[in-house]
Amino acid sequence: MKRILITGALGQIGSELTGKLRSVYGAENVLATDIRPSEEADGPFEILDVTDAKRMGELAKEFKADTIMHMAALLSAKAEENPQLAWNLNMGGLVNALEVAREEKLQFFTPSSIGAFGPSTPKQDTPQDTLQRPTTMYGVNKVAGELLSDYYFHRFGVDTRGVRFPGLVSYVTPPGGGTTDYAVDIYYQAIEKGMYTSYIAEGTYMDMMYMPDALQAIVDLMEADPSKLVHRNAFNVTAMSFEPEEIAASIRRHIPDFSLSYDVDPMRQAIADSWPDSIDASAAKEEWGFRVKFGLDEMTADMLEKLKQKTARA
Ligand code: SER
Repeated sequence: MKRILITGALGQIGSELTGKLRSVYGAENVLATDIRPSEEADGPFEILDVTDAKRMGELAKEFKADTIMHMAALLSAKAEENPQLAWNLNMGGLVNALEVAREEKLQFFTPSSIGAFGPSTPKQDTPQDTLQRPTTMYGVNKVAGELLSDYYFHRFGVDTRGVRFPGLVSYVTPPGGGTTDYAVDIYYQAIEKGMYTSYIAEGTYMDMMYMPDALQAIVDLMEADPSKLVHRNAFNVTAMSFEPEEIAASIRRHIPDFSLSYDVDPMRQAIADSWPDSIDASAAKEEWGFRVKFGLDEMTADMLEKLKQKTARA
C-alpha cells in the first residue's frame, strides 16, 4: 500500500496529482503539502516550506510515508527572473526531499523537463541520452536534479524515478511562470475574448502534453517493474509538438472567429529557442509502457469544454 507525501501540492501538477493519487490509493494515504494553506479539505494537508529539511523529515515520519513526490519548484521564466532564488528553492528543496527519501527509505519521484536540454542538443526527435548543456537556471537545476537523483539511486539505493515533462496543458490550476504557458493561456483567452496575443513567435515548436496523460505517466512509472528500468532520471515523455498557429487552427475548429496575433517576449522566446522542437519518448514506451490518450485536437476539445464549464460556474 502506498503512503505518499507530495510537496508543491497546490501547484499546476500537484493540485491534480493529489486528486489522482487519492482516487488510486485512497484519500487518507496521500499527504498534500504546500507553502500556502489549502482551501480544499478532501484529505490530509500540511503547510511545508521545502527548504525546511527538518519539517519535511518530521512530516514523512509522522505520516509513515513510503513515497515522496517532490513537485515544488520555480518554472523556467520565473527562475530566469530570479536565478538565485531558483537555485535555493529548486536545488535546496530537491536535496532535502532526496535526503528524506534516503533516511526514511522512501520511493522518490520528481519531474525533470524539456528544459534540461539546451541549444547544442539535437532539436528533432531529441534522444533519451544526448547532450544536455542548458543555458537557463531552470535547465541547470533540472540537469543537476537528474544527476543527483541517479546518484541517490546508485550510491544509496533510493528508488528514484523521473520524467522530462514537456509543457503541460491543464485547466484546474494555472501554471506559474513557465515558457510553455502560452499553450494554456490561449484556451482561457479563446473563451473569454475570442483572441490571443502570443509571447512565443510563429514557427516555434515545443513538446506538450495534456495533464491527464501526465498524471497517468507518473502513476505508471512509479508502479513500473524496477528490473525493466534501464533509465531512471529522467525519461523523455511527450504527446505532441506544435507551434502557435497549429494550436490556433485547432481552436478554430470550435471557435471559427478565433484570432491569433504576436507580441514576442524576448526572454521567453530565447528560452523556447534553446529547447527541442520534438523529443523522442521511445525509452519510456519500451521500459514502462508510457502511452498517451490525448493529441492536439482531443486536448483542445476537452480544454474548451472544461473551461466553459469552469467559467459558467464562476
Ligand atoms: N513548462 C515548463 C516551463 O515552461 C517546462 O518544464 O518552464
